[in-house]
Amino acid sequence: MKYQELAESVIMEKKGKTPQLKSYNSTLQLIGTGRSAFVFKVKNEQVALKVFFPDKAHIAEEEAAIYRKLPPSSYYPALHEAGKNYIVIDYLDGHTLFQHLENGIYIQEEKIHAINEALEMARKVGLNPSDIHLKNIIITSNGEVKLIDVARFRQTKNDRQWDDLQKAYFKGYVKSYFPKRIPRALLNCIAAVYKTGLRF
Ligand SMILES: Nc1ncnc2c1ncn2[C@@H]1O[C@H](COP(=O)(O)OP(=O)(O)O)[C@@H](O)[C@H]1O
Ligand SMILES: [Mg+2]
Repeated sequence: MKYQELAESVIMEKKGKTPQLKSYNSTLQLIGTGRSAFVFKVKNEQVALKVFFPDKAHIAEEEAAIYRKLPPSSYYPALHEAGKNYIVIDYLDGHTLFQHLENGIYIQEEKIHAINEALEMARKVGLNPSDIHLKNIIITSNGEVKLIDVARFRQTKNDRQWDDLQKAYFKGYVKSYFPKRIPRALLNCIAAVYKTGLRF
């Protein structure tokens, strides 16, 4: 089945801020819900289909344009296809930093350096990485750092989130007394502070 048909099989119903997912093709497996989209793995393929909420559909083209602008590297998933309300990118087998903290999986210092290298790479091609937070960074099962959700890399507003997270890592997390497992509610609270101020 074509990716476009798979994207069309995703039926959502508007209900509050996050639409409700009504139905989708059985070859799709829901792997994530964000602030703007539902993300599925396509069965038997190593790709992820990101289908945007109806009022966020315009972000698909913006995110695709940014993936095209990023230099090919191991820090970002490759873009396979884009449509009017969806994009298809590499499926990443791993866990977000959020899941690492929630489950107490240790995040090594080298990962922080790799994230900075990935951000530097984006800046070199004129992008302004924004919305860099715990749910948009994945460490794959073979230890590679991958940044996803690049839609806001052309926003002009400076986003302090990553600087603050980095500070928290070096000033707190690396210390032996710092808890390595952090309750989900607390992590969501930290994220909520930064949500204001972004353009979409
Ligand atoms: N390529 C991918 N491989 C594996 N999981 C993914 C992939 N893309 C997104 N996800 C999961 O789906 C969640 C939402 O995706 P994201 O692109 O951040 O959507 P949003 O723009 O709505 O925030 C992510 O936090 C992550 O858990
Ligand atoms: Mg996201």
